[in-house]
Amino acid sequence: MRRPITLMILVVCLVLVAATGVSTSMQDAAATTSSQELKKPQDVYILAKDNKLGAVTFSHVNHVTKNRNLDATGPVACVECHHTAQPASEVAKTPPLKTAWPADRTTTLTAELLLKDPNPLGGATCHSCHTRAGTKPEVWPEIPQIKHEASTAMITLTNQQAFHRNCAGCHDEVVKHRKDVKPPTSLKCTGCHKK
Ligand code: HEC
Ligand code: HEC
Ligand code: HEC
Ligand code: HEC
Repeated sequence: MRRPITLMILVVCLVLVAATGVSTSMQDAAATTSSQELKKPQDVYILAKDNKLGAVTFSHVNHVTKNRNLDATGPVACVECHHTAQPASEVAKTPPLKTAWPADRTTTLTAELLLKDPNPLGGATCHSCHTRAGTKPEVWPEIPQIKHEASTAMITLTNQQAFHRNCAGCHDEVVKHRKDVKPPTSLKCTGCHKK
């Protein structure tokens, strides 16, 4: 008689432990979503505010809703710009990029992720890492660098370099592939910087 009872107690204990585990993690999840506001991007960002050439009015909403990608198949994917907001294994597919933030993240930034994750970028925007020359980034030991495509030189990705490569870089490619749109290309400074 002894053995089955011990077994019963054990089973009951296991069930209890499992149930408490589940209910606490559900409470945790509920607490996270209710205590923290879900983060939404602004429709428009004013960048390069102090630049002599003028500030850049960047329509976030246009880039994520209108047909603006290279192949003319839809909007620009979030991770084309927010390149660290995906798992490291995904970033590794697009060298020279290799960094995920946070390093152990398992999610990829999408419009859907915004609806459930209160911290979709892991707390780091472009300017947390790509700062002005001579300054120290908030979440990174130094301004990120990549190796130059055609030599052994290193390119320091200040805010200016990072945005010019990402923004004007896509615009330059777009005009080679598409005739239906006219984004400001890299040499048309005042197409982006306006007084
Ligand atoms: C064309 C480039 C680009 C694309 C595409 C893009 N973003 Fe952004 N996003 C930005 C820039 C630039 C900022 C402003 C960041 C800064 O000032 O450092 C921003 C800001 C944000 C912020 C606010 C960050 C904060 O903490 O203030 C969120 C959230 C965000 N984007 C989510 C998304 C999502 C989701 C998508 C895809 C549906 C997306 N973005 C697509 C460039 C882009
Ligand atoms: C958490 C830090 C971090 C954030 C946030 C971040 N970057 Fe980067 N970025 C890096 C690092 C580090 C590299 C160097 C390559 C690598 O390690 O992935 C890099 C590389 C780049 C490159 C070079 C890619 C190439 O092939 O030329 C561009 C352009 C760039 N970032 C633009 C941006 C833009 C635009 C944003 C915001 C929408 C952004 N980054 C957000 C850290 C960051
Ligand atoms: C993957 C491609 C891609 C990336 C990355 C991208 N753009 Fe664009 N952008 C476009 C296309 C395509 C248009 C042209 C729209 C048209 O002519 O209808 C455009 C248009 C613009 C315009 C003209 C005004 C408007 O919104 O219609 C500005 C300014 C601009 N982009 C700024 C930026 C900035 C700043 C960034 C980086 C933070 C950026 N873009 C990143 C594809 C891109
Ligand atoms: C596709 C849009 C675009 C084009 C074209 C462009 N820029 Fe920029 N530029 C930006 C963005 C976005 C930033 C980043 C601003 C920030 O960090 O807020 C920037 C930053 C800069 C900065 C640094 C400003 C600062 O506040 O740190 C300088 C200087 C600059 N650009 C000059 C130029 C010149 C000169 C040209 C033409 C040869 C040019 N830009 C073409 C979008 C553009």
